[in-house]
Amino acid sequence: MKTLPETQVEGKNVLFRIDADVLNNDGVIKHDSRIQASLPTLKYLLENGAKVTIIGHVGRPEGREVPELKIRPVEDKLIELLGTHNNWQILENLRFNKGEEENDPEFAKQLAIGQDIFVQDAFATCHRAHASTVGAAKLLPSFAGMSVQRELEGLQKILASPAEGFTIIIGGKKAEDKLPVIKNLFDKAENFLVGGVVADTFLACQNYDLGKSLIEKEAFEQAREIFEMFSKDSKKKLVLPTDLIFSKSSEAPVEPIQLSVLNLKSSEHHEWMVVDIGEETVNNFRKIIYNSKNIFWNGNLGVTEVPDFAHATKAIAETVVDSNTQKYAGGGDTTTFLKTNGFADKFNYLSIAGGATLEYLAGKTLPGLEVLE
Ligand code: 3PG
Repeated sequence: MKTLPETQVEGKNVLFRIDADVLNNDGVIKHDSRIQASLPTLKYLLENGAKVTIIGHVGRPEGREVPELKIRPVEDKLIELLGTHNNWQILENLRFNKGEEENDPEFAKQLAIGQDIFVQDAFATCHRAHASTVGAAKLLPSFAGMSVQRELEGLQKILASPAEGFTIIIGGKKAEDKLPVIKNLFDKAENFLVGGVVADTFLACQNYDLGKSLIEKEAFEQAREIFEMFSKDSKKKLVLPTDLIFSKSSEAPVEPIQLSVLNLKSSEHHEWMVVDIGEETVNNFRKIIYNSKNIFWNGNLGVTEVPDFAHATKAIAETVVDSNTQKYAGGGDTTTFLKTNGFADKFNYLSIAGGATLEYLAGKTLPGLEVLE
């Protein structure tokens, strides 16, 4: 992989891909660690006389302009962190243009025009073959930034862990993306503890009634295949919630109730939605964590933006920290949670990437890295 110090940047126009996916639904920065991660490379470029055009995406606007997903808060943050707006500019959210996700050659050309080199510093997007990760990179001499190099070094440590005693905790949203990865990680770990929307999808596919919960039906087929895989190998454990916390709102506790999944086949709770995993599930997870040697965690177990729905994620973070294991975590929301709750420095490695990290650990070739070879 070509890395930056191998090239002269003085007087060059640099197209610089960062991970700008840091906003919540109201357009407010959740945590700036992804922006901070690109600062060393950005400063290196500016201090060495480059003119930098920064590009990044925010959320999933699907080719439309969504006001809450504008890049402005990221630009303001960069001005604050760099203390200057000299010699750099940032383009609007790439995903407002359909051409980005379609890896449209015309859009890639628009990005590359007038640029001398491309620098990829957003490991979190390297599993996507988009115009800003592959298309433009193919049109210019392309290099990995320092944040990408740091991620690759960190992930090597996780890859060196043997499957025996390796526990993967998966939660959060994006079930459609995460289920195929669980399949690919099957050989790499012994235990898979599942919470968040990913768990809800597994349960809903077994006909449990989860009321108004967010369910990704597109992932049902994958979920069935995963059940089949685990049923054939007694050494591997897929551990799903046995109880869940429900509320009538995901924004605040409204008539919260804890229900055993056994009571969900003929549930009367159609107006409720899952907001966290229950106490019994936390205890089941705990026992496995204490018997593990290595832990990798991606995805929160409940709606952690609401403190009342963050209890299980906090309890599991405490358990992981207390356990005699090598501790690794990945993903924007998980690392943000661990940082803001004071757990981060107890972890051996935190990757700011989610889906890309999972795919890399599963042994997949990431198109955004391949193009830098
Ligand atoms: C992430 O948040 O993992 C990256 O920004 C990629 O986002 P995506 O899953 O919407 O492509």
